Amino acid sequence: MIKEISKLIANYASEIPEETIASLIEIPPNSTMGDYALPCFPLAKIYHKNPTNIAEDIKQYIDSANIPFIDKTEVFNGYLNIFVQRNYYIKIVLEQIMNETYISRSIGRNQTICIDYSSPNIAKNFHVGHLRTTVIGNSLYKIYEKLGYKVVRINHLGDWGTQFGKLILAYKNWSSREKVEKEGINELLRIYILFHKEAKDNPKLNEEARSWFLKMEQGDEEALNIWDWFKEISMIQFNHIYQLLGVEFDSFTGESFYMDKVSAVVKELTHKNLLEESQGAKIVNLDKYNMAPCLITKSDGSSIYPSRDLAAILYRKKTFHFTKCLYVTGLEQKLHFAQVFKVIDMMGYDWSNGLIHIPYGLVSISGEKLSTRSGNIVYAEELLKEAILRAEKAIETRNPNLQNKEKTAKMVGIGAIIFHDLFHQRIKNIDFSWDEVLSFEGSTGPYVQYTYARAKSILRKNPDYVSSLDIDFSPLNEDTSFQLVKKLNDYPKAVLYAADSYEPSIIARYVIGLAQEFNKFYHNCSIINSEYKIRLARLCLVFAAQKVMKEAMELLGIQCPEEM
Ligand code: ARG
Repeated sequence: MIKEISKLIANYASEIPEETIASLIEIPPNSTMGDYALPCFPLAKIYHKNPTNIAEDIKQYIDSANIPFIDKTEVFNGYLNIFVQRNYYIKIVLEQIMNETYISRSIGRNQTICIDYSSPNIAKNFHVGHLRTTVIGNSLYKIYEKLGYKVVRINHLGDWGTQFGKLILAYKNWSSREKVEKEGINELLRIYILFHKEAKDNPKLNEEARSWFLKMEQGDEEALNIWDWFKEISMIQFNHIYQLLGVEFDSFTGESFYMDKVSAVVKELTHKNLLEESQGAKIVNLDKYNMAPCLITKSDGSSIYPSRDLAAILYRKKTFHFTKCLYVTGLEQKLHFAQVFKVIDMMGYDWSNGLIHIPYGLVSISGEKLSTRSGNIVYAEELLKEAILRAEKAIETRNPNLQNKEKTAKMVGIGAIIFHDLFHQRIKNIDFSWDEVLSFEGSTGPYVQYTYARAKSILRKNPDYVSSLDIDFSPLNEDTSFQLVKKLNDYPKAVLYAADSYEPSIIARYVIGLAQEFNKFYHNCSIINSEYKIRLARLCLVFAAQKVMKEAMELLGIQCPEEM
């Protein structure tokens, strides 16, 4: 609608681009001031007239043009208030939802976007921080897919580095096959911590660990077998979490995959005169850009995190021909990505501006930083299981006769965690409190799920509704229904804005607003007690609302139970 209106006004004010007009149009806080309003103050300078006169002129132009979707216009305090022809508007909005034409898949033009997300470190527990990258990345995948992009979902596992030399040595010294098999990642973590403690008194252990890592880099069979097995053990936990979250990947090529591709990067950097020696290590100097140097190889020649990322970028470009490659990690890696992207730019690749870091803030629980020592839950798996348990209890009290309680509790518990993670702006630090996350009121996942289930139950109880557009929508003219229609109309805009700003929170906020509008409608507009014609129109609106609600939640990676 904003587009239609700006087009119309641009016909009159041809000096001003349509997009500028669109960006000026506001939605008045109160519908007595119109459905849309154009503040004419910014136009005053261009036309050398006062805003009220400009508004009057545009009003005259619109009124004389007899536009079918505009009911009336009013001038007030330098604003042009526009009232749309409600019947016309409602039909267009509902038609687009029924026919699923509200979001165009042609936006992505089949371009490829790689998303590097989740990417946990082998032999370490999956932390709640990794939960955030996992759900943000998964939601971005769904959003871009919806818009018609080809998305490659990459899990860049942290499966290479000196720490594995330490781990192999620690395993040989202080653990056993049985223990690792029984305790999984916890045992690997135990011996890793033990290694650091022991190495304090016995620095020779560090030397030995380094030589194990060198063996790995040189392809030593024994070292690689142990490492591979550590990876297997870790993947059991990771896969379990992905299964709970319903998250999948196209590729698990982690850091180890790029280890033997670093020498080609070194060659290319040398050839392009970008490499410098510094205390035996090789670096790219970034003084000119006010950044610390980017480390390429260590003094023993081994590869390192940044150089493996450089190799990964070149590999991904060659393999997937991406237009964008996104990296979803904590804010603390900001410098790392700035350095690596800069090096790609210095290598002369003009597509380096398609490399984008998508940072996010920290998670705390009830105001406390997460730490195992303080007894706060740090591990994603524990958190998810606890959420399911608590959802089970809530359902037991609210609706003890519900069918499929277990399945519903899973959707509600997991959905609550994902929603909470995505509702907050990415970059903000978030605090986690169980009461807030699992509440059925407020800005929570369960609130939206519950609203969706309510809409579904209305449709079930009224089997005479037809999801057809061949009905009279005029009963939806009154304010509460019309506000809901307007909210539905905002959905495509929210999806586009979320995609442009890499910000799933925009969709999470949108869907809360939608659920609120729906509940207002539900309380004000009776369905069962209204006459047939009104009932049909209202049911059609319920149908549209539940459809958008479900889809918006799917874009966040959250499932909605049909009953709750
Ligand atoms: N494994 C890293 C971590 O846990 C994240 C990797 C992000 N991706 C990348 N290509 N560097 O912090």
